[in-house]
Amino acid sequence: MKIGIIGLGYVGLPLCVQFAKSGADVLGIDLDPKKTETLNQGHSYIKHIPNTAIQDQLNAGRLEATTDYARVRELEAVLICVPTPLDEHRAPDLSFVLNTGRSIAAYLPKGITVVLESTTYPGTTEDELKPILEQGSGLKAGKDFYLAYSPEREDPGNPDSQVAKIPKVIGGHTATCLEKAQAVYRIAIETLVPVSSCRAAEATKLLENIFRCVNIALVNELKIIYQEMGIDIWEVIEAAKTKPFGYMPFYPGPGLGGHCIPIDPFYLNWKAKKHGMEARFIKLAGEVNNAMPDYVISRCKEALKAYGKKIHSSRILILGLAYKPNVDDDRESPGYVIMKKLESQHAIVEYHDPHIPVVRSSREHSYFAGKMSVEFSGKTIQDYDLVIIATAHDSIDYSILKKSKCPVVDTRGVIDRPWSGYMRA
Ligand SMILES: NC(=O)c1ccc[n+]([C@@H]2O[C@H](COP(=O)([O-])OP(=O)(O)OC[C@H]3O[C@@H](n4cnc5c(N)ncnc54)[C@H](O)[C@@H]3O)[C@@H](O)[C@H]2O)c1
Repeated sequence: MKIGIIGLGYVGLPLCVQFAKSGADVLGIDLDPKKTETLNQGHSYIKHIPNTAIQDQLNAGRLEATTDYARVRELEAVLICVPTPLDEHRAPDLSFVLNTGRSIAAYLPKGITVVLESTTYPGTTEDELKPILEQGSGLKAGKDFYLAYSPEREDPGNPDSQVAKIPKVIGGHTATCLEKAQAVYRIAIETLVPVSSCRAAEATKLLENIFRCVNIALVNELKIIYQEMGIDIWEVIEAAKTKPFGYMPFYPGPGLGGHCIPIDPFYLNWKAKKHGMEARFIKLAGEVNNAMPDYVISRCKEALKAYGKKIHSSRILILGLAYKPNVDDDRESPGYVIMKKLESQHAIVEYHDPHIPVVRSSREHSYFAGKMSVEFSGKTIQDYDLVIIATAHDSIDYSILKKSKCPVVDTRGVIDRPWSGYMRA
């Protein structure tokens, strides 16, 4: 089967590799010629996908990348994995999905299966994408081509995560659409989870991410309450997670990051409002999580005060700028929010992140574009008044902190044996 995957990012690229490994002919399509050229030369631009994973599939003739939408004509199935961010009013920005629909519609061959994978609110596939595809192609969904929604469950940075082993939820526009979509995914994915409609599949993905967002907010709030009581939340979580049923650990941090958890819940919130309802849990979780960077700053103030210093003019090092450990993804990272807030209080802020040698230009952090990761060593640490552990990458040598006399604000609970000058936040 020849399968096209549109959007060769954190979701689309691993999916391309998995389908090719499973024997499909894969055509990756992206607007960005740098990505398609890099792939065709056998190089990966995502840290946890090795070059060899791309090269093996190129050499086997099962993978190719292009910017040319006309090649959708060659395909039997096309999977759409483009971004679904929020706009400046925190409303869903479906422009990437809808533009993709407009770009491919004219080239849809009869009988093709089109699956949307991007995270979005219930109704997107049938109410927004379907009309664009039908109008642009003159074909009818469910009759001339098949339409489905199947959310991605990519877990970047988890070395045990394998695309083939993660069960895949699928909802079709019609029963035949579901069958056709299942036939596509059966090539590469071990367990399929069919549901009754595209809407149910869309709602499933949002439930998963809202669940995370709300539970992270809960432990973030408990962290502050327990802190006041002199109780360490990380110790409490370690103890609670020994319960073999009815509990699942979530960990506090400096705020939410990544392309999913800070964004996806607001897709549902927006849609709920259209139905005249308010998603109260989502709103409250958003408030709690968004307040975390300010809490970290308040802890920085306390830590500096103990040394007779203030944020103003202090030199502060952020350790870890990616939004989660061991990845090079810095989208929506709370590290940037903290950096900006500290700079607005006239601190001199630098960062060290082995996965982000230089801040790339992006819609979110253009202000910091070009800023470079500084060295982190026993010698350079002496230049700082305070270190904030914002993300706990495994490759960072935390013993350097212990040996230095620099105060540390640890937002991830990575240091297990505290010393004077160390503070959890
Ligand atoms: N990153 C994750 O861990 C993750 C997990 C689950 C679901 N998702 C969802 O998957 C979707 C994609 O996320 P991502 O992290 O892969 O995004 P990404 O930004 O890493 O990649 C998206 C790619 O799409 C390309 N693109 C944008 N518009 C295009 C168009 N019109 N035609 C062709 N290519 C286009 C971009 O150039 C980019 O390469 C989002 O809806 C996201 O919410 C992401």
